[in-house]
Amino acid sequence: MTLTVMAKILGVGIATLDIINQVDDYPGENAEVRANSQRFCRGGNVTNTLTVLSQFNNQCSWSGVLCDDYDAQYILDDLTRSKIDYSHCQSQSSGKMPTSYILSNSINGSRTIVHYRDLPELSFEHFKKLNLTNFDWIHFEGRAINETKKMLTWCKKKYPKIPISVEIEKQREDIESIFNLANVYLYAKAFSVQNDCNDAESFLQKERLKSPEADLICAWGEKGAYALIGNTKLQSKAYPPEKLVDTLGAGDTFNAGIIQARLNNLDWMDSLDFANRLAGKKCGQIGFENLLCNI
Ligand code: ADP
Ligand code: FRU
Repeated sequence: MTLTVMAKILGVGIATLDIINQVDDYPGENAEVRANSQRFCRGGNVTNTLTVLSQFNNQCSWSGVLCDDYDAQYILDDLTRSKIDYSHCQSQSSGKMPTSYILSNSINGSRTIVHYRDLPELSFEHFKKLNLTNFDWIHFEGRAINETKKMLTWCKKKYPKIPISVEIEKQREDIESIFNLANVYLYAKAFSVQNDCNDAESFLQKERLKSPEADLICAWGEKGAYALIGNTKLQSKAYPPEKLVDTLGAGDTFNAGIIQARLNNLDWMDSLDFANRLAGKKCGQIGFENLLCNI
């Protein structure tokens, strides 16, 4: 499939330092185990999504918070390598860049994340000063709900023609207040399960009441993904790799696939299928490099 549109995309959310230990099995509490390997990389949902979108030659920009600690330089170097512009970021003299301590299970590719942050969230005061006129798409993480709500309301009013997507990954206080403000909501299975719903179709139908006008998508691990577009229910299968190697950032990759497909005017069924193929490819390898080959 050739997707040739090169768009200008802004991602609003976080960048992290990920410290990933690969283990042969998930350890029990109070156990002492040795890791097979260790790697450091730049992570964070929105910057992972931009890393993938950048591989399609889109011009990607990140807006989030940067402080001037040691890890920030590592993160910036990686963003530069991935051709992600960070001139829309908010600088902060105190705090530290968020860090995730991750166990990656080599048997089934599962990832367990312990996340630490001591950094203010991106403020609406900063965001509203950005000139967003040239962007073709803006993607938000559903976090820092108060500020994000103001940003979404601002975008809807000031830039009504720019499509907006929001990732809803986990339950947060007052999260309902950011519904029905964007064009596309990308839910994680984890959010549905936290809301006592183990069935994607009925979950999306409940969400429809909160966002009557938006396109609603829900990724569901090895079951692929579901969508509710208007009243039309869609489902598209997953593409399991030969071996599940690393599922860290599978959802972030799926979100990139949806954005890329929509920017290229694929219909919704093809968009889901494309995002599942891309995320399936990612699950078969470590990290996000060269995701475009053979999908
Ligand atoms: P995350 O846990 O990162 O939020 P999910 O587990 O919901 O993400 O997976 C996101 C997407 O990644 C799925 O919709 C699917 O396309 C792909 N995926 C995840 N796990 C598997 C798997 N075991 N086999 C095939 N594809 C998978
Ligand atoms: C994967 C990821 C990691 C990061 C964590 C943040 O989806 O973005 O790269 O450390 O989640 O919650």
